[in-house]
Amino acid sequence: MKHLIAANWKMHGNLSWREKPGQLRDILGDTPNIEILICPPLHLIMPMRGVCEGIDIMLGAQNCHYECAGAYTGEVSAQMVKDCGADYVILGHSERREMFGESDELVAKKAEAAQKTGLIPIICVGESKDERDKGQAEEIVGKQISASLKGVDGAGLVIAYEPVWAIGTGLVPSLIDIATMHDHIRGCLRRIYGDEISQGIKILYGGSVKPDNAKEILELLDVNGALIGGAGLEMQSLAAIAKAAP
Ligand code: PGA
Repeated sequence: MKHLIAANWKMHGNLSWREKPGQLRDILGDTPNIEILICPPLHLIMPMRGVCEGIDIMLGAQNCHYECAGAYTGEVSAQMVKDCGADYVILGHSERREMFGESDELVAKKAEAAQKTGLIPIICVGESKDERDKGQAEEIVGKQISASLKGVDGAGLVIAYEPVWAIGTGLVPSLIDIATMHDHIRGCLRRIYGDEISQGIKILYGGSVKPDNAKEILELLDVNGALIGGAGLEMQSLAAIAKAAP
């Protein structure tokens, strides 16, 4: 399985940022061993589409609504995201869960809608610091996985394990803790989807991935890529992370 290197630009970027994928490709050259995905704010997907198609960089959104259309002021449907030119959509990021009150059930509905339009959902899960300190990390993540995947097809699905306390903090779990959690997630997926399908689901690690820790994280068993926030805004550092993929 190829590693997926995914940048989550969050609410950063203006029109001039459409140059960034080209800069990234120039630094990297060809990368047949990995897949590269950029998830910019929605308004940049369409202007970045043409250039990205030509240089084998995929695009994703950071959210979508579960209905196709309707009176939902300020929302964008999965089909609209797809129409912009996205192939992926990040769903249930901890910032959306925390700041916008998104539940596992809502994430599952969004993921189902995304898959119906042909988008690949990247479903984010992860425990808080308090939950990890109490030894509940695996239980919490297991619950998030089963509830966020209700009605979701195992084909065309990516999971991102992002411990909430590691996002944007510079803190990273130990390599053993990352490997243990990814193994646990793989086990949860196996119980839901069976051996064959679960083996095909990429499990990304996210939370303070940087050029200097990317290699050791990306080499872990069952880590099939990274979801990168801060370090994905700079093409030099994103390229350094991408180069660290095995
Ligand atoms: P970070 O963010 O790399 O800045 O920690 C990761 C994320 O929120 O996906």
